[in-house]
Amino acid sequence: MEKEKIKDFWDKCPCICNENPLLITTLSFEIPYHAVYRDKTEKNILFKIIKLNPDLILADIGCGTGRWTLDFAGKCKKVIASDISETLIEIGRTEALKKKLTNIEWKQESISDFTLNEPVDIIHIGGVLLYVHDSDFINIIRRCNEKLVNGGLLILRESISLTKEIMVEDLSVAGNKYSAYYRPIDRFINLLEKYFIIEKTCETHSYVFPVPFFLYVVPKFLKNSKFIKSFMKLLYEIQWRMDPYLLRIKFLTHLKHSRLKKTKYPVTQYFFICRKK
Ligand SMILES: C[S@@+](CC[C@H](N)C(=O)[O-])C[C@H]1O[C@@H](n2cnc3c(N)ncnc32)[C@H](O)[C@@H]1O
Repeated sequence: MEKEKIKDFWDKCPCICNENPLLITTLSFEIPYHAVYRDKTEKNILFKIIKLNPDLILADIGCGTGRWTLDFAGKCKKVIASDISETLIEIGRTEALKKKLTNIEWKQESISDFTLNEPVDIIHIGGVLLYVHDSDFINIIRRCNEKLVNGGLLILRESISLTKEIMVEDLSVAGNKYSAYYRPIDRFINLLEKYFIIEKTCETHSYVFPVPFFLYVVPKFLKNSKFIKSFMKLLYEIQWRMDPYLLRIKFLTHLKHSRLKKTKYPVTQYFFICRKK
C-alpha cells in the first residue's frame, strides 16, 4: 500500500461526502443515518469502558476530521491530533473552532513516523492500522509503548477480517481508489501482545437490521426519498435502543458473521483496549 495513494484517497473524500465530517471518516455514505448510528454506538461503548478526566493528555493518531478528537478535547486537558491528510485536519480545525475547543494541537504527519514531544496518558488510533504493513505496524506499536506514561492506554478501533488476511487494492469507492489491509483478529492480537496487555476486545455492534432492509427491501427508486430517509432514522433509533440486548444474543452475532462471510469483504469492527506493559 502506497502512502501517497492512501493520502490521495482521503484528501478527495470531502468531495464524495459533501464535506460532512462524520460521513467522510466513517465512509458510510450509502445508507442514510448509518454514519450517525455508527458514531453514536462506538462512542457509547468506548466512553463506558474508559473514564476520561481533565488531567489527561491524549493523542489521537489518524484523527481525520476529528470525529473523536473533539469529544476527547471536551473531556481531557489536551489532545494532540495528527493525520496524513491536511484537508481532513482543516475540517477538524474548523469544527473545533466552532465548538470553541482550544486545547487541541493539530499536526499533519504519517502514523509511520508520528512524533509526540511529551508523554501521553492515552493514545487513540481509530481505523488507521489497516493502511499500514506489518513491519510499520510493529514499529508504530513499539513507539506507542515508548510514548505512553506507565500504565497508559492504547485504544484501537479497527476493521477485522472474519476469515483470512484480505488485501484490497484500488477498489472503486464512489470513483475514488481505495486500498486497505484487513487482518484477522488473531494476527492483530499477536502483533499487539509484544508491547501491550490486551485488557478488552469487543465488537462495536451486533446485527444491524436497517442495513438488509435498506439494501434488499427498499426499491431502488425509493432509496433517496425523504420518506425512506426518515424511516431509516426511526429504524436506527429502534436498533440503538435494542442494541444493549441484541449484543448479548450470540446467535445474532453469529448471523451477522455468517452473512458477512458470504460477501467479498467479510470485515467487522473491533475495539482493543491495551495497557502498556
Ligand atoms: C477511517 S478514517 C478514521 C478517522 C478517525 N480516526 C475516525 O475514527 O473517525 C482513517 C484516517 O486515517 C488517516 N490515515 C490513513 N493513512 C494514514 C497514515 N499513514 N498516517 C496517518 N493517518 C493516516 C486518513 O487520512 C483518515 O483520516
